[in-house]
Amino acid sequence: MQKIIEASNLRVSFGKTQVLKNVSMTLHKDKITAIIGPSGCGKSTFLRCLNRMNDMYDNFKLEGAISFKGDNVYAKETDVIEMRRRIGMVFQKPNPFPSSIYENVAFGLRIQNINDKKILDEVVERSLKKAALWDEVKDRLGNSALRLSGGQQQRLCIARTIAVESEVILFDEPCSALDPTSTRKIEDLILELKKHYTIIIVTHNMHQAKRISDFTGFFHLGELVEFGETKKIFEDAKEKLTRDYVRGDFG
Ligand SMILES: Nc1ncnc2c1ncn2[C@@H]1O[C@H](COP(=O)(O)OP(=O)(O)O)[C@@H](O)[C@H]1O
Ligand SMILES: [Mg+2]
Repeated sequence: MQKIIEASNLRVSFGKTQVLKNVSMTLHKDKITAIIGPSGCGKSTFLRCLNRMNDMYDNFKLEGAISFKGDNVYAKETDVIEMRRRIGMVFQKPNPFPSSIYENVAFGLRIQNINDKKILDEVVERSLKKAALWDEVKDRLGNSALRLSGGQQQRLCIARTIAVESEVILFDEPCSALDPTSTRKIEDLILELKKHYTIIIVTHNMHQAKRISDFTGFFHLGELVEFGETKKIFEDAKEKLTRDYVRGDFG
């Protein structure tokens, strides 16, 4: 197993509030890691540290280190835009741009000044196929993305990330706004994507974590209480707090 991201002794605060306390975690390449824990325990904050999405808050402070393929993510010379291309993100609420299906997927190439129609057509088709959306939209690529269903919009956001050849995809509760059928489709898609992408998914859905992830990290009050193989976390956790949580005793 190859490690791809390593977080070491992360301590994160927003102003005076400490949100992550000494979190260390190693993420493995082409595996799915689930992040679970009660609301407010720092799951999203942790995820957003990995591709520097918290940088936008001016009271955000991070100590410790994160490396991506051996490079320091928080180094001064890091090209943050390029890093976010390589470590893409899919949010809780699908957030397509108010443009066509085609342009949503092509967006990341357009901003790199790639406008060759043949190239764009190819990338759009390939990305939509990988996101399991092609068959549903191939005859209406020019239609507004906003007219798609929630589940389709979420798959479109995944296609947008894939189009720029990301290596890691961060998912922050990607199914929480979706119905069970759409949820299942996204779960199947994530399992399929694992062949070529490293996936880290925050979820409050225990069944989802159990069903799709290889590793699970359990957070509580800003601490990583336990991290390990998903089977172990769900069936034979070391910590009582973990056992109580996965049993559904609180949270
Ligand atoms: N930008 C921010 N400014 C201040 N506090 C924040 C900010 N983002 C998150 N927090 C606080 O950090 C804690 C953890 O939040 P979050 O990571 O969103 O938790 P989770 O995703 O596990 O529900 C919460 O108490 C939240 O209010
Ligand atoms: Mg969250």
